[in-house]
Amino acid sequence: MQQTDSSGPRRGEPALTLIHAAKAFGPVVALADGTIEILPGEIHALVGENGAGKSTLVKILAGLHRPDSGDFRVAGETVQFRSVGDSKEAGISVIYQEPTLFPDLTVAENIFIGRQPKGRFGLISRSAMVQEAGRLFERLGVPIDPTRIAEGLSIADQQIIEIAKAISLDAKVLVMDEPTAALSGVEVDRLFAVARSLREKGTGILFISHRFEEVFELCDRITVMRDGRYIATHQTADVSVEKIVREMVGRDIGALFPKTDAEIGGVVLDVEQLSRAGVFKNISFQVRAGEIVALAGLVGAGRTEVARAVFGIDPYDAGAITFEGRRLKARDPQAAITAGMGFVPEDRRKQGLVLELSVARNVTLTLRNKLTTAGLINGAAERRAAKDWSERLHVKAGSLEHPVSTLSGGNQQKVVLAKWLAIEPRLLIIDEPTRGIDVGTKSEVHRLISELAGRGIAILMISSELPEVLGMADRVLVMREGQIRAELNRADANPESIMHAATSSAGGTP
Ligand SMILES: Nc1ncnc2c1ncn2[C@@H]1O[C@H](COP(=O)(O)OP(=O)(O)OP(=O)(O)O)[C@@H](O)[C@H]1O
Ligand SMILES: [Mg+2]
Repeated sequence: MQQTDSSGPRRGEPALTLIHAAKAFGPVVALADGTIEILPGEIHALVGENGAGKSTLVKILAGLHRPDSGDFRVAGETVQFRSVGDSKEAGISVIYQEPTLFPDLTVAENIFIGRQPKGRFGLISRSAMVQEAGRLFERLGVPIDPTRIAEGLSIADQQIIEIAKAISLDAKVLVMDEPTAALSGVEVDRLFAVARSLREKGTGILFISHRFEEVFELCDRITVMRDGRYIATHQTADVSVEKIVREMVGRDIGALFPKTDAEIGGVVLDVEQLSRAGVFKNISFQVRAGEIVALAGLVGAGRTEVARAVFGIDPYDAGAITFEGRRLKARDPQAAITAGMGFVPEDRRKQGLVLELSVARNVTLTLRNKLTTAGLINGAAERRAAKDWSERLHVKAGSLEHPVSTLSGGNQQKVVLAKWLAIEPRLLIIDEPTRGIDVGTKSEVHRLISELAGRGIAILMISSELPEVLGMADRVLVMREGQIRAELNRADANPESIMHAATSSAGGTP
């Protein structure tokens, strides 16, 4: 599995090998055959559908889970990690999708936590710490102030800090579990540049992503998993996206973006001159029954903020929101739900789920009122609704009674979608509908959105993925710096027209 090509991985002993590792949680087999080889100086992608076992494999590498069986070697030596500390000591650094910095500590303190550089007389030297952190950021080419506190840093900066920490620990293997899911294009480019420079210096990198463009752009080799099992490893240069998808899914998948023309009816949502100082300004648009309207633009353009104001989570200073002819109260999400609005938030884990409750409970949370008579919940109806929606979205769970926290990342997202679809809203706002969702389910989600529109539901979709916007939307509103800069019909929307309005300051008039 080695190659001599100078651009690819270097010849040499693998930095890490995991062979036939298995891990079960009670009756749930999360990993049946976890197999991966990471060479020094290669970027190795791990791909697979939601629930395929990728994060479980990562947690074994990180020392968080002990495998039930299998062979695990680091630099040729068999290892048995008892803790995260053991894994770190062996030179493995793991960056999780949600960074785990201490918000009250400074950036430098976060990097050196637990092992501050000592000054003279063995005292902890703050200045040595700050200097060392400064050197790391210089090497990474990112301007982060080591003396600021971590609270309020963007996810992208937090990840860079985790990487700086990995470098300062002299990690031989860096594992990144969906690091790009919450990043903008520029931030992804920066992360890739850092990854490449680490590869240059001989670090082996394991990279997990559901975005094939990223995998094919960045990675030297690709390992595919399906249903907890190793399927194959390929040199990226020798394999096609189609082949990878076939191996991942084990079947043919339907077309992405199966847009069907729905009959477009009356106005459901009417937003007039909505403004919030410093956030968005003079936002006016309508969404009609059966129509899919996309809010496009770069991360930070104010799209999520507009959606949150429409749904009543955030306040606004001026303007009006009318829903099916009735003026909607500001700052009252319950009123929005009662009126018939659903909202699938961007950060689903934090805002969409009660992690310690069961899958079934989470799906039916929004149905509470409907399923309750005289203060009693109709348990059978609840189970039926939960089962029905979980099946429609192919939620993979050991049991619907398990806590939703035990589901894989993508499956948790499906549960949030299910929960809002279950109330059968007349307007559904979806922020990044397929982020973190695998390719098979993605087409399923697109089909579902089309089907909802076909049933006359109005859809407001925020998406940073241009193909998704172009494939799904009847109309595209492009936002930049808090204002709508262009409104494009399906026929006029193309990557150029959208990117132009999203980035150019000479773009259309607000
Ligand atoms: N602690 C746990 N208890 C019970 N089941 C678990 C636990 N951790 C993982 N699982 C199950 O193991 C399977 C694999 O999950 P894993 O998180 O490894 O998937 P993944 O490939 O990372 O998916 P995604 O792309 O959605 O992040 C899932 O079916 C999940 O529900
Ligand atoms: Mg995962």
